[in-house]
Amino acid sequence: MSTKRKIAINTGGGDAPGLNAVIRASTLAALEHDWEVWGIRYGYRSLLDDEVGLMRLDRAAVRGIAHLGGTILGTANRGDPFHFPTLDPATGALVPKDRSADLVRRFHEEGFEALIAIGGDGSLSLAHKLGGLGLGQVVGVPKTIDNDVAGTDITFGFDTAVSIATEAIDRLHTTTESHERIMVVELMGRHAGWIAMVAGVAGGADAILIPEVPYDLQAVAAKVLQRERRGRKFSIIVVAEGAKPIGGGLTVRSEGDVFRRVEVLGGVAESVAKQLGPMTGKETRSMVLGHLQRGGWPSASDRVLALRFGAAAIGTLATTKESGMVAMHNNTVTLVPFSEVAGKTRSVPTSGGILETARSLGICMGDEPSGHFDT
Ligand code: F6P
Repeated sequence: MSTKRKIAINTGGGDAPGLNAVIRASTLAALEHDWEVWGIRYGYRSLLDDEVGLMRLDRAAVRGIAHLGGTILGTANRGDPFHFPTLDPATGALVPKDRSADLVRRFHEEGFEALIAIGGDGSLSLAHKLGGLGLGQVVGVPKTIDNDVAGTDITFGFDTAVSIATEAIDRLHTTTESHERIMVVELMGRHAGWIAMVAGVAGGADAILIPEVPYDLQAVAAKVLQRERRGRKFSIIVVAEGAKPIGGGLTVRSEGDVFRRVEVLGGVAESVAKQLGPMTGKETRSMVLGHLQRGGWPSASDRVLALRFGAAAIGTLATTKESGMVAMHNNTVTLVPFSEVAGKTRSVPTSGGILETARSLGICMGDEPSGHFDT
């Protein structure tokens, strides 16, 4: 029987550019220690569903993947082991079942000592919970285009999403100006406005609406009309999918269900566009950039961040028995306890930082009193 240290890697939640770079870096770094590395496919499915095998990660398996989008392991949004979709033989329907004990047992039967869990806040919280059930050492790697994971300055995937969104805003300028329209573009981010905020500033948006700053469309309409008076007869409004009107709620495309217990956001751009038309007398269009923000190859900066995180996860396993999440602080990778991460969201600060830059540039954040624009 092999006495090699055996570790597992999985990817959970929505994919993000850079996942494969983490898998490559962790695998190569582990092989330097002469450890054995396996991938758990589609979240935790390989440990709970006999039809989905584990994937041996060797040099050949991770060759040439650092620049590829998606994840060679597959991922899952509906694979929470505490509410795992399980066939009910009586009804033939899928029902949620707590399979966490099965998972921990199978993990040990396979001879795994440690798990590298690459995920966003939801997947990292799950990994932490499994660690508490005796899974072994768990090292989290913060992934998400939303950049909303607490305890780290940045997540990989974000830079790529911002670049894609910025290019979209750039391209929307020409068509919007040609038609003298208002264009409302909806960007992802869930309950944090990072993608909208950074891409909006980079792309020269005229207004940016984010969850952290509830909006009043009177302020946005006033900004559009101020631009008209200056001879700028078009406006680009960037809205984060989680943006809310003052005193109002989220715009939700569909509610969660028993397997995925969070709502799917979407539709706020259309609602904003519909209201801004009559308020300004202008022709208005909306578009949702959607999953393009997560598709394709990672930027160089995301690739390097992901490689650093992947290598650091192995460094953690090699030097300490502690569990936690590798995180970036002032360009240095550190380990932070899961208690600083689980159940928390890192929001855009509402004073200083990029928000202040936006305001200094005259970008409307949707909260200024409308009189401000009459001068
Ligand atoms: O968390 C990443 C993210 O892309 C969010 O920005 C978005 O709200 C969500 O995932 C979309 O989820 P799905 O891929 O299930 O549509």
